[in-house]
Amino acid sequence: MTVNLLEQNYLYLLKKIEKESFSYSDNSPISRKKSLGQFFTDSSVANYMSGLFSFKKSIDKKLKVLDCGAGHGILALALLYKLISKGYKIIELTLYEIDDKAVKYLNDNLKLFKERHNSIEFSYTIIQKNFILDNCSDKFDYIISNPPYFKLNKSDLEAKKMEHVVHGQPNIYMLFMTKSSELLHNDGEMVFITPRSFTSGTYFKKFREHLLDNLSLAHIHIFNSRKEHFKNESILQETIITKFIKAPSENITITSSEDSQFSLINSLKVTKEMIIKRGRNVIGIPSSQEDIEVLKLFGASQQTFRDMGYRISTGKVVTFRSRAYISIDKQNLFSSNKKSVPLLWMQNFKKEKLVFPLDSKKEQYIQDLDETKSLLIKNENYIIVKRFSSKEQHRRINIGYIFKDKLPYDYLGLENHLNYIYREERQLEKNEMKLFGSFLTSKKVDQYFRIFNGNTQVNATDILNLPIPAELFKGYKCQD
Ligand SMILES: C[S@@+](CC[C@H](N)C(=O)[O-])C[C@H]1O[C@@H](n2cnc3c(N)ncnc32)[C@H](O)[C@@H]1O
Repeated sequence: MTVNLLEQNYLYLLKKIEKESFSYSDNSPISRKKSLGQFFTDSSVANYMSGLFSFKKSIDKKLKVLDCGAGHGILALALLYKLISKGYKIIELTLYEIDDKAVKYLNDNLKLFKERHNSIEFSYTIIQKNFILDNCSDKFDYIISNPPYFKLNKSDLEAKKMEHVVHGQPNIYMLFMTKSSELLHNDGEMVFITPRSFTSGTYFKKFREHLLDNLSLAHIHIFNSRKEHFKNESILQETIITKFIKAPSENITITSSEDSQFSLINSLKVTKEMIIKRGRNVIGIPSSQEDIEVLKLFGASQQTFRDMGYRISTGKVVTFRSRAYISIDKQNLFSSNKKSVPLLWMQNFKKEKLVFPLDSKKEQYIQDLDETKSLLIKNENYIIVKRFSSKEQHRRINIGYIFKDKLPYDYLGLENHLNYIYREERQLEKNEMKLFGSFLTSKKVDQYFRIFNGNTQVNATDILNLPIPAELFKGYKCQD
């Protein structure tokens, strides 16, 4: 078959699958899609992902390929076409798909492919079983997947079976990646499209360790705009494509494109040491040469706020649990003579300054009683760090200041979406707070933070473990 004809067939079949899977999805109840974690890949993403394999394996030997969570087969078929165009002649494909309706389409699409390509030795097996629970003893050269995404409970059978990577609440996609990593031949390769959360989330720590102990990360692709990758779905998670190989490798390619049309692809080469922070095995994703300079600057620094003796804690007032003790208005709701103190929210900090009380529907006061004492903190000098922010915000780290002398109270309540920084043995000083605050909100810290944090959380440990390059923290003299 000439390359032209091959290309025509390829485009025809991929577009056909895209169309039918999207219309299948449109007609499927949301609850069903959610329970199956079913979001289909478009043809341009499938084409891009299938092109990431190295195609270094001998073309004369049998190549074993797996697509787990195959849906209508768009990824497997994109890869099959790439393989034929590279000259592979003996291909054995295995596909896992649990949804019986999708399996019908999958079977039709593969049958059609087989009919049209009778000059190669091609066989396929569709396994309509749970990929995680099935005892698959085969090994594969290439694995391609857009796995299902949804949270599991630790007591679910899938989580129990993969206990060795579960730490906190697991997501099924990481179990698909784990199982795939265990099914790869030496020198095998796997390409996945998943949420970015596994690169830094605490719940993925054990998983990352397992993955990075057994495979090398070879490629990461990120999308600059969040909404465009799955044309038919509104996916709010940041999505990435990763390639892992079962062979030692020090170098990683990082590419980025605006969206799933893959125009304007930017490409960087980095080393493992530059982006994988040992200890927590967190994976950073720089997307420009400037980001690499930031990594070098922070990488050269050993000192952290934790080393300098600072502490950070989370506001203890979870409002729905404390309803009986909180009120909008100081006087009216607490008609008794019980004492009340400020309850501070994110909204109380405007351009870092504390504004209290707010003219707001949010409760501004909490009672100061024996029952609430454990929820309150002493009124002292604190730096407040908001616990959530999004990629679209100007800065990921947003702060505020509480100065003791601005509030005539002995105690304060801090709502649970806030963290506060303090020292145990002494008050924070105003100058020190300003220095600390301007460091945390600087452009360089923002860049560094974004490289390592792909979710919306700003964790206490992320702040305490930030390396502090001396040149960005000039003027600080530790008094201890
Ligand atoms: C995110 S969709 C991707 C579908 C297809 N690969 C694509 O890219 O368009 C994941 C697929 O995995 C299937 N699935 C969900 N849980 C599964 C399981 N435990 N074992 C096998 N397949 C599963 C779903 O039915 C769904 O079709």
